[in-house]
Amino acid sequence: MTGAPRDFLKLIPCFGVNLHNGARCAHPPEGIKPGATGKRKVSVVQRALTAPQKQNIPILVMKALLLVGLLLVLSSTGHGFTLIAHRGASGWLPEHTAAAYAYAHARGADFIEQDVVLTRDGVPIVLHDIHLETTTNVRAIFPDRHRENGRYYAIDFTLAEIRQLRKGERIKPRSGKAVFPGRFPAGKFLFPILTLQEAADLIAGLNKATGRTAGIYPEIKKPAFHHKEGQDPVAPVMRVLGESGWLDNPERVYIQCFDPAPLREIHATWGPQLQLIQLIGKNRWKEADVDYRKLRSVEGLQEIAAYADGIGLPLDDLIAFTAKDPRWKAVKAHAHAAGLRIHPFTLREETLPKAMSYGEMMRFLRGPEGVDGVFTDFP
Ligand code: G3P
Ligand code: CA
Repeated sequence: MTGAPRDFLKLIPCFGVNLHNGARCAHPPEGIKPGATGKRKVSVVQRALTAPQKQNIPILVMKALLLVGLLLVLSSTGHGFTLIAHRGASGWLPEHTAAAYAYAHARGADFIEQDVVLTRDGVPIVLHDIHLETTTNVRAIFPDRHRENGRYYAIDFTLAEIRQLRKGERIKPRSGKAVFPGRFPAGKFLFPILTLQEAADLIAGLNKATGRTAGIYPEIKKPAFHHKEGQDPVAPVMRVLGESGWLDNPERVYIQCFDPAPLREIHATWGPQLQLIQLIGKNRWKEADVDYRKLRSVEGLQEIAAYADGIGLPLDDLIAFTAKDPRWKAVKAHAHAAGLRIHPFTLREETLPKAMSYGEMMRFLRGPEGVDGVFTDFP
């Protein structure tokens, strides 16, 4: 909960229970002093609070109004804000590992993200890159299995081969140095690569065992690349989500993609109840054959609203950081006007604008004028 609702709670007259922390209220109602002289007044208030029938009607109305006020404040200051664990709790543990997913679940993430690519035998696995050398020990295990450009493509390996690899903290492919040196030690390749099925089963299992529900948030990575390699990623991903039971509770699933084509296909084939997020990247990333500037225009956003429920976009395309105080860019109002939710990426300690702390940024995102969720490495 953010600071604002807590402050609000302090203003609510005591009704016997302190709403802030659940403890019994220790202070008397405002204007009534404790001690002998206050006793009679307190007893009047107590009678008013406990008196039956007609005497307590104004009190009940007051209580109801305060409750409505409280709910309004909560709903405008963070209630409903979706905390998405970006590649699991990847700020603390290597991304897309069982450990990172379990830690994200334990820390209370609402949704846990899976980036998905296919193996040579068509099995969806959770991996951010189409390449393996940035997060696994593939160079040590299969030194000769790179393509001419020196890169190791997941789609060139069968699942049985993928199972021989171990994941570690993300490294720069040329230097082998950690991308985020302050995180889990680079070069410690301790973790198996998960299939999407295993990731989905793990999170479902944690939901059952803990009684706390987290959702899943798979991203179909590079569909055009997969098609070029002779594979369609959509059907295998949807098959896993269906067979693992996740599609029985569509409110617990978001499906995201930088390419509109798979999202349009899923919307048309699996129906509008599935929650879809159109990712809007930067044109220079070449994520898909799409003009993202056009996609985040008023017209583009209206087009997205025909098949998706929301957008994901980089924080700096959503917020201007030119001054000390951040400022929303127009895309926020335009997306909300089109009825789209907004889940920006990626909040992480290491890449924040200098003028803002993690906490300040989080409060801004989930404040009264804020957005609907955020991808964070530190859920
Ligand atoms: O999917 C949201 C965000 O994760 C997109 O960026 O590159 O981390 O997949 P990326
Ligand atoms: Ca992603």
